Order: sequence, then structure tokens, then C-alpha cells
Amino acid sequence: MTRSRNLYLRTYQDEDAEGWHQLRADPAISALVHGRLLIPESLEETRAWARRFRQDPRQEMWTVCRREDDVAIGVATLDSIDEWNRTTWHGLNLFAHESRARGLGTEGFALALDFIFNQMNFRITFGEILASNMPARKISEKTGAEYIGGRRDAWFIDGKHVDTVLIAQRRERFNEVREACLGG
Ligand SMILES: CC(C)(COP(=O)(O)OP(=O)(O)OC[C@H]1O[C@@H](n2cnc3c(N)ncnc32)[C@H](O)[C@@H]1OP(=O)(O)O)[C@@H](O)C(=O)NCCC(=O)NCCS
Repeated sequence: MTRSRNLYLRTYQDEDAEGWHQLRADPAISALVHGRLLIPESLEETRAWARRFRQDPRQEMWTVCRREDDVAIGVATLDSIDEWNRTTWHGLNLFAHESRARGLGTEGFALALDFIFNQMNFRITFGEILASNMPARKISEKTGAEYIGGRRDAWFIDGKHVDTVLIAQRRERFNEVREACLGG
């Protein structure tokens, strides 16, 4: 399925770089997404970064849009795609503060997981989350994640080493909560 109650997935397009630019320019958010603060970049540099990201055959990126007005509200990413073992690493980010904390992250993440497991036939997807990023941990739990460990002092942010948690999402477990997460 590429549609849920409020959202749909489509291929990433160049104009979606504006959303990425907003994410990457916000120091509070770029640390959550990239595990470090980014040096400020222009919109054209963000666009070029996204193009390079998509050129790597082990990576994939989709845009999450609202059904009611077709506005792009976020991106789902796949990284370190392992075709042999059918595993990958995932990311889900909403562009704007106004879109967050309204259930859309859970729904958008479930859409991406549904495509990863039930269309692309991956078995497991892994994620690494800043330990203090409660919304990201919560949407993982709600979509069936299992906690597999942590990395103490893994990332260096704002002059401090901070811990991360590692999670795994398995197809069977996700499919038990799939309907509830995607809605009608
Ligand atoms: C992470 C992200 C995708 C989550 O999406 P979202 O739309 O905000 O999440 P949802 O509204 O679906 O769910 C968030 C849950 O976290 C809970 N939550 C939020 N802040 C919390 C806190 N400080 N402590 C405990 N729970 C918290 C909310 O109550 C909600 O749970 P509920 O639905 O049971 O009430 C989004 O916030 C985002 O893009 N953040 C910035 C980038 C980022 O962190 N990306 C992830 C990198 S791993």
C-alpha cells in the first residue's frame, strides 16, 4: 500500500529539497537526523546532497505527502540496503514543526515500513535513534520495533558525547500492528 488514512508516498523530487533544507538548517533537528550538527548550506547544496544520496544504489528516498492537499510533509530514507540478507536501515523525518506530534510520524513511518516489507520484500530494517529523542522512540515502538541495544557516547553533539539506541523492525511484528497504524 502506498496510501494510508491521511498520507501517501511518492518518489522524491528535486523540489522536495526545500523541506530537507529546513530540516538540515535547524541545529536542534539536524543533530537528531544526522547525529551531528551540520555546517550551514545553501538550498542548492541541499539539492545536490539529496541527488548524491539517491544515486547510491544502497540508498532510497521517498516523499511523504498529505492526501488532502498533496503537500510534502516529510521524507522516508533507506540506507545500507543489503539485497542478499534482505535487510536495510531506515529513517523518517517530518519537515516542519507544525506537522509533528499529531500522529503523522507514526502513520508515515508505517507507510514506509509497509512498502519496505510487503512490496520490496525486506525482512528486517534497523534504526539508530538519539536516546533522548522520545518521539522517534515512540513511533518505533508503536510500529512494532524491538530494542536491540545501545551505543554509549556514540555521537558528539554540542560539546558532549551522547548515547543512542538501536532498534530492529521485523516484518512479522510490523504486520501485527499494520492496520492500526495505517488506518482506513
Ligand atoms: C520523529 C518524528 C518523525 C515523529 O513524528 P511525530 O508526528 O512527531 O510523531 P507522532 O505524533 O506520530 O508520535 C509521537 C509520540 O511521541 C510522544 N512523545 C512526544 N514527545 C515525548 C516525550 N518527550 N516523552 C515521551 N513521549 C513523547 C507523543 O505523545 C506521541 O505518542 P502518542 O501518539 O502515544 O501520544 C518527528 O517528530 C520528526 O520528524 N522529528 C524531527 C526529526 C527526527 O527526530 N527524526 C527521527 C530521527 S531518528
